[in-house]
Amino acid sequence: MYIFSAFLATVVVLPLVINVYFPYFWMDCLYMVKIIRALIKFARRTMGKRLFFVLDKFYEQVAKHPEKPFIIFENETFSYRETDAKANKVAQALKRHSRLQAGDTAALYMGNEPAFIFTWLALEKLGCSVALLNHNVRSKSLLHCFGCCGAKVLIAAADLTDAVREVLPALQEQDVTVFVMAKEQSTQGMVTLLDKVEAASDEPIPLSARSNITLKSPAVYIYTSGTTGLPKAAVVNQHRLLIAMAVLTTNGVTPKDVVYINLPLYHAAGFIIGFLGSTEIGTTIVLRRKFSASQFWDDCRKYNVTVIQYIGEILRYLCNTPKRDNDRDHKVRLAIGNGVRANVWKEFLDRFGNITVREFYAATEGNIGFVNYTGKIGAAGRINFLHKKLYSYTLIKYDTEKDEPVRDSRGLCVEVPVGETGLLVSRITRFAPFSGYARNAQQTEKKVLRDVFQKGDAYFNTGDLLRSDHDNFIYFQDRVGDTYRWKGENVATTEVSDVLTMLDFIEEANVYGVEVKGHEGRVGMAAVTLKKEEQFDGGTMFNHVASYLPAYARPRFIRIQSSLELTGTFKQMKLKLVQEGFGPAVVPDPLFILNESQKTYIPMTEEINKMILSGSMKL
Ligand SMILES: *[C@@H]1O[C@H](CO)[C@@H](O)[C@H](O)[C@H]1NC(C)=O
Ligand SMILES: *[C@@H]1O[C@H](CO)[C@@H](O)[C@H](O)[C@H]1NC(C)=O
Ligand SMILES: *[C@@H]1O[C@H](CO)[C@@H](O)[C@H](O)[C@H]1NC(C)=O
Ligand SMILES: *[C@@H]1O[C@H](CO)[C@@H](O)[C@H](O)[C@H]1NC(C)=O
Ligand SMILES: *[C@@H]1O[C@H](CO)[C@@H](O)[C@H](O)[C@H]1NC(C)=O
Repeated sequence: MYIFSAFLATVVVLPLVINVYFPYFWMDCLYMVKIIRALIKFARRTMGKRLFFVLDKFYEQVAKHPEKPFIIFENETFSYRETDAKANKVAQALKRHSRLQAGDTAALYMGNEPAFIFTWLALEKLGCSVALLNHNVRSKSLLHCFGCCGAKVLIAAADLTDAVREVLPALQEQDVTVFVMAKEQSTQGMVTLLDKVEAASDEPIPLSARSNITLKSPAVYIYTSGTTGLPKAAVVNQHRLLIAMAVLTTNGVTPKDVVYINLPLYHAAGFIIGFLGSTEIGTTIVLRRKFSASQFWDDCRKYNVTVIQYIGEILRYLCNTPKRDNDRDHKVRLAIGNGVRANVWKEFLDRFGNITVREFYAATEGNIGFVNYTGKIGAAGRINFLHKKLYSYTLIKYDTEKDEPVRDSRGLCVEVPVGETGLLVSRITRFAPFSGYARNAQQTEKKVLRDVFQKGDAYFNTGDLLRSDHDNFIYFQDRVGDTYRWKGENVATTEVSDVLTMLDFIEEANVYGVEVKGHEGRVGMAAVTLKKEEQFDGGTMFNHVASYLPAYARPRFIRIQSSLELTGTFKQMKLKLVQEGFGPAVVPDPLFILNESQKTYIPMTEEINKMILSGSMKL
């Protein structure tokens, strides 16, 4: 009897106690069960007789449901079998007409379209690594990105022919083979690929082409605008692809779901989480060239989309569209992404109905991630006992003035107390490795923080400031240093200043982001000094930034100073400039604003300032 009541007490009372005192206990457990399941699956794959890769998962899906639609794009649908056959054709064409060998790297320069996926699969079948170039980059930046990964072959979309032609002489000097996904084109030195693909057989590529691939082999290079300089190529190896593609599964996406991909496939979110995640599960993908707020819900209705991806701004853009009667008429049940602000989140749910929002935090090249699986508004995720055992991460004190972690008398870092903002660092282990950046040992080393809690230890420095609370929720606060976000993209301030100082009349440039009411992220602004006896030329500057920088990275405001202030450690002073912003009444220097339609920078006025602040002029 006593035993029985003890048993009863345990079974009935304990869960009650847990619910009252640890309200997130069951959610934590449930989430960890999913993680553990994913890990067991992962262990089986990695310890099996034959190695298992992302491509093998794709083959499994093709065998399981060959006729199931895999990619829906505009008016075309490709089943799993058709996708595989298309990829075989691309692979056969490349095998026959290029010098590509297993182990080589090819660069893919293409927007979101089915050919992107066919070509990636083809290169994977041939045992090649693939650099996913951002199709917005041009000229100097394009050459830089291409040069990062040691590629011998560039495969470009037909609509990017002009951009490739611009850099063709430099590529030819490096003996690069340039393919264009077109049937014909007139420039000497570029090779058409589409005609060869259409003529090729769809016979499978023998598995032996991949016989030397291991989990450590680089699979893709994904470019990140880190904290300094030009974009860096983060090396994503096969192991990481396998782990990262599980984000959709662990968040409850099933084969019945239809996933909407409008984020660029050259970024980790679109490529790994969206595309590879869907491959893992065997869902149908609705692929779009790019995000369109006005088409978004019509697409979701037309294709019965159930899962969407976002970056913070996307949900805000959706909330900014004019209200419609059918706003809640759709089948979307889950939104996965990062960077949404709590107020936008609420507005989104109020307007578009009962959608589960799963916010996650992760860096492309990092070795740590969080998912907000409890759905607490504002939190990026939860510190979970087991998760913390698996991934040893900590928030440490950071000195934002000196721009470095605080060290104690022994030279070690200091953990912040709960509730205080700190720099997120994560120990580099076999389980949580950091592959670094391609051909950039210096930048790789910069992301590694040593002697953190013990002499000789090594941590990945995320460069992100986070805060945790007493309920173990973790909140994203800010990015350290030299990048800001605008229109959902990271802008590296040093990259922009490098471009500005190429101009004859610019002496120095200090680039930073300024918050604007009603806009997510920060708008780009540059404080510049002019060379002696030179004048500011708005038109020339406009043409220059328009040809070197994607739209989101072009500085919107220019502030002309007689000299730039430096900190004690010879870094440019940004804080004061950021605080002063772009109000003509506050800023004592000449100010200019970029004008797209006039293709120049025009003088900034109080009138324009009022229009921006009142929201009647959008930036
Ligand atoms: C694998 O590596 C061996 C030894 O380096 C080499 O002989 C062989 O050609 C490689 N196979 C492929 C498919 O690359
Ligand atoms: C969407 O779902 C509806 C009702 O379940 C169905 O009639 C329609 O054919 C579906 N559309 C697509 C494109 O699958
Ligand atoms: C919202 O959806 C979830 C699951 O999708 C369901 O459990 C819940 O009852 C729904 N809430 C409302 C208010 O419809
Ligand atoms: C976490 O999830 C909930 C609901 O799904 C959401 O309301 C909350 O804002 C999320 N946290 C963050 C940072 O976005
Ligand atoms: C740019 O110029 C056009 C035409 O002069 C004007 O209508 C528009 O408001 C200007 N935009 C900005 C941002 O100043």
